[in-house]
Amino acid sequence: MQWYTGNALYDTLLIIGFAYAALIFGSSLFGTAAYGGRFGGGKRAKGIKLGSKLGWVLMELPGLIVFPVVFFMGTNADQLVPLIFLVIWMFHYTNRALVAPLLMRVQPGSTASFSLGVVIAGWITLLLHGYFNAAYITEFGSHYTKEWLQDPRFQLGLLIYATGFTLNVHSDRILRHLRSPNPSPDEPRYKIPYGGGFRWVSCPQYFGEILSFTGFAVMTWNLGAVFVLAVTAGNLIPRAIFTHRWFLKNFDDYPPERKAIIPYLL
Ligand SMILES: NC(=O)c1ccc[n+]([C@@H]2O[C@H](COP(=O)([O-])OP(=O)(O)OC[C@H]3O[C@@H](n4cnc5c(N)ncnc54)[C@H](OP(=O)(O)O)[C@@H]3O)[C@@H](O)[C@H]2O)c1
Repeated sequence: MQWYTGNALYDTLLIIGFAYAALIFGSSLFGTAAYGGRFGGGKRAKGIKLGSKLGWVLMELPGLIVFPVVFFMGTNADQLVPLIFLVIWMFHYTNRALVAPLLMRVQPGSTASFSLGVVIAGWITLLLHGYFNAAYITEFGSHYTKEWLQDPRFQLGLLIYATGFTLNVHSDRILRHLRSPNPSPDEPRYKIPYGGGFRWVSCPQYFGEILSFTGFAVMTWNLGAVFVLAVTAGNLIPRAIFTHRWFLKNFDDYPPERKAIIPYLL
């Protein structure tokens, strides 16, 4: 992968981006991001708070805007391989920014628990992520010719991406169906999820997310995609560990063989 593109703005921002990813990882070890019922409520949700659906849509929206804008400013925007990456990107972020939040089942009476600080941190990540990838794919990268489709990195990356995305969406679906479509206020907010990736770990949705970004980094073979993989792993691995401990503490009958995020390992 290419460290220096020769573009001072891009190269400087990339270094800052990796420092930011290290910061996210360091801070995640001391406490996970303040959103969601388990981690966003109570004292942690001080300041401006949003409802889950609004918080998610607002936070992820730059993912649907920055990438296409920068993409079409690049000289190779009309080439086949960059266009394939555009389709994958828009597919991914349509799910994350619109489909998943709108399908979410929110417990009535649960207070707004999405901190505005989390939304702003998400914007910083998505601005950098969208810019790094779009600018590299349509301007700085030189390997996105038609031959790239035959390259094992593209094919393996696509396979990893598809596996991760499927695991993520399937796990989100299992969690969603733990609540009735219109949950009543006296329905228990949390239950133990079973089936799919939950047979092995407490957070297969996070494992799937990390796999998707691993696949995207391999298939595009650029450091801008490694940046978001680092931010995602730095955020979601500690969050999975906190979530796993939360399950063990709150459910006496929690399956003891489950790991937090990586089957048999962690
Ligand atoms: N790329 C990234 O850096 C990144 C970062 C964060 C999340 N994500 C992705 O975004 C998606 C949502 O993430 P999240 O952190 O909000 O995940 P989450 O903890 O999986 O929550 C998702 C939804 O399921 C509900 N839920 C969770 N556990 C439940 C249980 N045991 N019983 C009943 N309902 C339950 C939550 O309700 P409550 O809100 O009431 O808790 C929420 O509505 C995941 O696919 C994740 O991979 C990506």
